[in-house]
Amino acid sequence: MRVFNRKDLENMNNKPIGIFDSGVGGLTVVKQMFKRLPNESIVYLGDTARVPYGTKSPETIKKYAVENANFLMRFKVKLIVVACNTASSTSMEELIKHVNVPVVGVIKPGAKKAVAVTRNNKIGVIGTYTTIKSKAYVREIKNISPKIDVVSKPCPLFVPLVEEGWLREKATYAIAEKYLGSFRRKGIDTLVLGCTHYPLLKQVIGKVMGKSVKIIDSASSVADEVHTILMSMGELSDTNKKPHHKFFATDAVEHFIRVGEKFLGTKIYRAERANYV
Ligand code: DGL
Repeated sequence: MRVFNRKDLENMNNKPIGIFDSGVGGLTVVKQMFKRLPNESIVYLGDTARVPYGTKSPETIKKYAVENANFLMRFKVKLIVVACNTASSTSMEELIKHVNVPVVGVIKPGAKKAVAVTRNNKIGVIGTYTTIKSKAYVREIKNISPKIDVVSKPCPLFVPLVEEGWLREKATYAIAEKYLGSFRRKGIDTLVLGCTHYPLLKQVIGKVMGKSVKIIDSASSVADEVHTILMSMGELSDTNKKPHHKFFATDAVEHFIRVGEKFLGTKIYRAERANYV
């Protein structure tokens, strides 16, 4: 058995958390991680060279996800967060087999939160084509409570609208109405935002759905889940060490910074190109 001395343990705790997404969207998860886990260092990877994942096949996404995880493992991360809903809904098994650190996806925490919130047992889920087709949210929700009815719908145009910064335009309301009008008639009381980009449209989506529908954004539940795992492993970072964050993109680093700041809600001073793609 290996015996760890104090220095070893300190180094282990202060290892960074790795987070990846298909692009900038996963920074909504980083924003919540900064709030919930302010002492943790983060290495963020946005696969901007191959975004969007939401229209690609599960096989392709699995391959990308493993390559992304390999890149993060170079930084000796102590845990990996799959901030992308599409990658979480298709690649968790593959990733868990592939790396020797805990892997946290966004589907389970989002499903758990929705089940805790619904009162009438009717939950709506929106996401990319691939996420909705995978039925990952339906499976997770039914796993927790089989009696819950789940209705799902892909809303692919929300991603480019957010990237374009059209967060409250007339056209955005019109598109949201077109996608979500049918959900209002289905009587759901809870709606899961099953895509990294949708939290930025929370206001529009909330307005279209009406006050009686609770909007669930899994980002804060993911941060809670990471906190619970690290605490149970005794791997929360020391409070007296300053965290260091690193941002990487597989292409178009300047665009990543410009759009990414909107998602993160704070400045990104430096990002580097990840060259493995
Ligand atoms: N990050 C993706 C997700 O959460 C949205 C963007 C894409 O299609 O790659 O599903």
